[in-house]
Amino acid sequence: MSNLQYLHGFGNEFESEALTGALPIGRFSPQRVNYGLYAEQFSSTAFTAPRADNRRTWFYRIRPSVMQSDYSALDTGLIRTAPSNEIPTPPSMLRWNPIPMATQPTDFIEGLVTLATNGSAAMQAGMAVHMYRANQSMTERFFTNADGELLFIPQQGGLRLHTECGVLEVNSGEIAVIPRGMKFRVVLLDHEVRGYLCENYGHPFILPERGPVGANGYANDRDFEIPVAAYEDREGQFELVTKFMGQLYRCELDHSPLDVVAWTGNSVPYRYDLARFNVMNTVSYDHPDPSIFTVLTSPSGTAGVANIDFVIFPPRWMVAENTFRPPWYHRNVMSELMGLIHGVYDAKETGFLPGGMSLHNSHAPHGPEAAVFEKASQVELTPQRYENTLAFMLESRYVIQPTRYALECPERQQNYLDCWAGLKKQFTGATL
Ligand code: FE2
Repeated sequence: MSNLQYLHGFGNEFESEALTGALPIGRFSPQRVNYGLYAEQFSSTAFTAPRADNRRTWFYRIRPSVMQSDYSALDTGLIRTAPSNEIPTPPSMLRWNPIPMATQPTDFIEGLVTLATNGSAAMQAGMAVHMYRANQSMTERFFTNADGELLFIPQQGGLRLHTECGVLEVNSGEIAVIPRGMKFRVVLLDHEVRGYLCENYGHPFILPERGPVGANGYANDRDFEIPVAAYEDREGQFELVTKFMGQLYRCELDHSPLDVVAWTGNSVPYRYDLARFNVMNTVSYDHPDPSIFTVLTSPSGTAGVANIDFVIFPPRWMVAENTFRPPWYHRNVMSELMGLIHGVYDAKETGFLPGGMSLHNSHAPHGPEAAVFEKASQVELTPQRYENTLAFMLESRYVIQPTRYALECPERQQNYLDCWAGLKKQFTGATL
């Protein structure tokens, strides 16, 4: 399955058919669809959303989605959904070691643990940040999330995502996004996997504007990959797990719900190799604001103020002259949650581990640890290539609230602030 086919682009009208002639021509809903398929529209935006924002896909499937049993509630385990006020949010700077891998047989749904939420799923604003850990593939059960679209950020091991639009694979260093409400199952490409999962309650992710950068650069549209139609014509006993308003439900199916033979539209799952990000950076002085590394953004409705910015810190050249090159000390009205996919992050050379996480909420002071400050203040500023590093940030206008699990788990670093304890008073009253 590693020779999967993909379409290319971002947000455009795609179409794909697994059987020749399955896709109606010239209309979406003919009186009879070829091959005896049912037509079903999948709307990801309001019917009347402006054309530039409008997202929907037409499925041509073996059975319509209404053919399912009624729902019954399932234990939600460690999954939390905003608004979640189960524990007060401290103003503190916070950091965690990696959440351990699963030890019992665990599939993608069972291994989900929510570390933070903000906004409100019901109000379609904010997000949740989960970790997934799994060692079992989903074969007879499927998942759909009515509360938000899902951004997969694999940290260890690869996934094959079987979706209504087809199959895509995503490995560490890549990301994948599945639209809100789309059905899928997760097959593991490795014995055990772990990764970050951002659940976006708000506006679907889009590519940020480029401004004076021009027509090319940052994440280029053509590098996003969309699966081709691939259907399962399986009958038997299946389970569909649905997350709705924070609660998990299950229903029974006598067939696989991934039975879409052809589809056309622009609400689709996609993957992106973060190594293809065209990194912009200074060639004169100062560290630019990290927004220059934005891969995807979920707008909030206020121009320039994101519901979520997904930002990466990839390998890159640093050439700034007469500059403190690491990210500067700062306090930010926006809230910043960071994770590390692999390697070492330039502002924190110890303690911020692959699979770990840090959280600096609105106006929490943060910046380089003491040792990094000392080194970066003294080092000779020759051109330097940052290698073996891939960190990311989820930045939001809404305060990010850790779950009770996150605040009380043993992986929380109670001594995080010690990383700044070695900063010394440099002031002498004399000029340099
Ligand atoms: Fe920051």
